[in-house]
Amino acid sequence: MKQLEERIKQEGRVLGEDILKVDAFLNHQIDPELMQAIGATFAQHFQNDKIDKILTVESSGIAPAVFTGLALHVPVVFARKNKSLTLPDGVWTADVYSYTKQTTNHVMIDQRFLGAGERVLIIDDFLANGQAVAGLLDIVDQAQAVAVGAGIVIEKSFQKGRQLLDDRGLPVVSLARIKAFRDGQVEFDS
Ligand code: G4P
Repeated sequence: MKQLEERIKQEGRVLGEDILKVDAFLNHQIDPELMQAIGATFAQHFQNDKIDKILTVESSGIAPAVFTGLALHVPVVFARKNKSLTLPDGVWTADVYSYTKQTTNHVMIDQRFLGAGERVLIIDDFLANGQAVAGLLDIVDQAQAVAVGAGIVIEKSFQKGRQLLDDRGLPVVSLARIKAFRDGQVEFDS
């Protein structure tokens, strides 16, 4: 998606070897018009897949997920990160290890909001090591729902998440695919 690549070039900042800061438009300050275009693009890709529901993880997946849900006219459910020691009843859960933050999040979705046979599209802001999407797939399995695909705003193709999802046979649509960071600049996979 050209518009997204341009924003990354203009406003993204490369930190260290493998982190891209995009807090000016994606995950701190949010550009609603860009998010709307992102949602419309995902919707176009998955329009024939009979999606019943969008799934994401709080917090940064919510904005692109909501605009995708708006374009496909389906509800959006975000997995919550459980901060208390006890687990409430009636939830699907998964452990999501973040390599970037070196913490494990216990994520959960109320069983009322995901059930057997529902066709699910997973949306997230970044695909790095694939742990967030893997956790959501785990929850989809528990619910006996069906994962139809994943829509990713920014994929870092040099990390192992893409391969992990390809190995599981999940169709993945990434709107910007980053091949490498070189001298603080972003190189895209064309
Ligand atoms: P994964 O997202 O593919 O599972 O990989 P990883 O475990 O490395 O990522 C963990 C967290 O770090 C995720 O956020 C992910 O969105 C974020 N992340 C990964 N790479 C980048 C990057 O290059 N730039 C930025 N800004 N974030 C990155 P999270 O823990 O779910 O938190 P939240 O920000 O959504 O609340």
